[in-house]
Amino acid sequence: MLRAIVSMVLMTGALVSSASERRSPVGGAWVFDNAPPYPGVTMLEVTTRGGRTTGNVTTAWYGPMVMQNVKVEGDQVSFDLRNLNDKANATRRWTARLSGDRVSLVGDMWYAHVEQAGRRASADDVTARRFKFTELPALGTIAPDGQAKAPPMGWSSWNKFAEHIDDATVRAMADYLASSGLRDAGYIHVNIDDGWQGRRDSSGVLQPNEKFPDMKALADYVHSRGLKLGIYSSPGPRTCAGYQGSYGHVAQDARTFAAWGIDYLKYDLCSGEWFYSDADTVKRTYYEMGAALQATGRPVIYSLCEYGRFDVGEWGRSVGGHLWRTTGDITDQYSSMAAIGFEKNGNAAHAGPGGWNDPDMLEVGNGGMSDDEYRTHMTLWAMSAAPLLMGHDLRQTSPAMLELLTNREVIAVDQDARGVQGRAVYKDGATEIWAKPLRDGSVAIALFNRSESAAQMSFAPADAGLASLQSIRNLWQATELKVGETRFTVPAHGAVMLRVRGQPLSRNL
Ligand code: GLA
Repeated sequence: MLRAIVSMVLMTGALVSSASERRSPVGGAWVFDNAPPYPGVTMLEVTTRGGRTTGNVTTAWYGPMVMQNVKVEGDQVSFDLRNLNDKANATRRWTARLSGDRVSLVGDMWYAHVEQAGRRASADDVTARRFKFTELPALGTIAPDGQAKAPPMGWSSWNKFAEHIDDATVRAMADYLASSGLRDAGYIHVNIDDGWQGRRDSSGVLQPNEKFPDMKALADYVHSRGLKLGIYSSPGPRTCAGYQGSYGHVAQDARTFAAWGIDYLKYDLCSGEWFYSDADTVKRTYYEMGAALQATGRPVIYSLCEYGRFDVGEWGRSVGGHLWRTTGDITDQYSSMAAIGFEKNGNAAHAGPGGWNDPDMLEVGNGGMSDDEYRTHMTLWAMSAAPLLMGHDLRQTSPAMLELLTNREVIAVDQDARGVQGRAVYKDGATEIWAKPLRDGSVAIALFNRSESAAQMSFAPADAGLASLQSIRNLWQATELKVGETRFTVPAHGAVMLRVRGQPLSRNL
């Protein structure tokens, strides 16, 4: 009896499922005409064969995402999609409700909730939206090209303007760099970050958007001010702010940039992290653009922005990089700046003439930190031989910030020809002493107080690798100190920066 009931249930189940399959053969393609930007779902394709349903969700950011654990219930297909940047949820469940020629799609990805309605696709729709995969080249090695002997200095649009950047603002920044003395202090790069891109023309050539009417003319203008123009792209189909990336157009974009007169490229992984998620493919995608830039024959400073993944300092130079980000993004807060500057500024062994750890752009002058904190920011970056790329609206630079940014003696430490990245030689609670040996045998010393109240700090000659001191210069105050003056009151979140000379203790620092 029991057996009979069980087999009845099984039979009924089988009948129900085969009936529903017959009623609703789940298969076909649907397209979405007004996809929300992230991840930009443009098409849904579902196939049922031999009772098994498979499919893809095609997105502007990641191309086709394969459906996993597909379940069909009537006209509803539910499935998992791989989910990036959310360690707690490696996949997320999505649902497509198919009704006649319409589809409604609901799901989540990273930070975005997606709900969109689509229509059944024609064969032409499918062809037009089918993602075109490109193969990466085998990994090669790019020889040093003699650029970036010192860490690059200049200005970049992102920290202040984000996507709200345009031709007129870039020109205004160039004017200010030239007229304020910043250019002559070494800040020569004017870098347009994300948000300049428009569409590709019918030949695939990337055009700027309407905010940049003529990129070549802008480059000419920037060059006429004795400055260099930088631009930004991604190895993925979309940049971090959702603009056109270089996926499938790498060599073409490098040629476009060179033809415009671009001197600097920041290449930001962004949606490329979907395609290139291991060391091998990340190296190869950065090599691909490095080789493409080299093939243009134009010297271009190449900035790798993949947030420090896969020990980029180990291989950044060999793919043509002149600097490589060591972290995620800085924000205009002491906590963010300090976390990066003290803890995540990269392995000092990787830095040196031609290739630099990049702990991200400066926030000096953006208003979120006190003057002492900004002085610490500048001190940390100079001691770290970090690129000095200002990130504020230069027209709003206060006299105090201008003085801070143009302190020649501090800049000289950053730009020192020996190219050593300084490091902490002593840590005690919230206080740290850093040393950076310089070309002329002197040593830059920084005393950092990370606590919330002033601290008394002193240093010993041995901190600078010296047996005894012959001279001490206070760089922020531009004063010579007496040789015995090694004790300082360092303000809360503040720094004292010195350049000392003396008898060497050893050659090992
Ligand atoms: C990433 C980078 C930033 C900036 C933005 C632009 O977050 O790390 O420096 O370039 O993208 O979208």
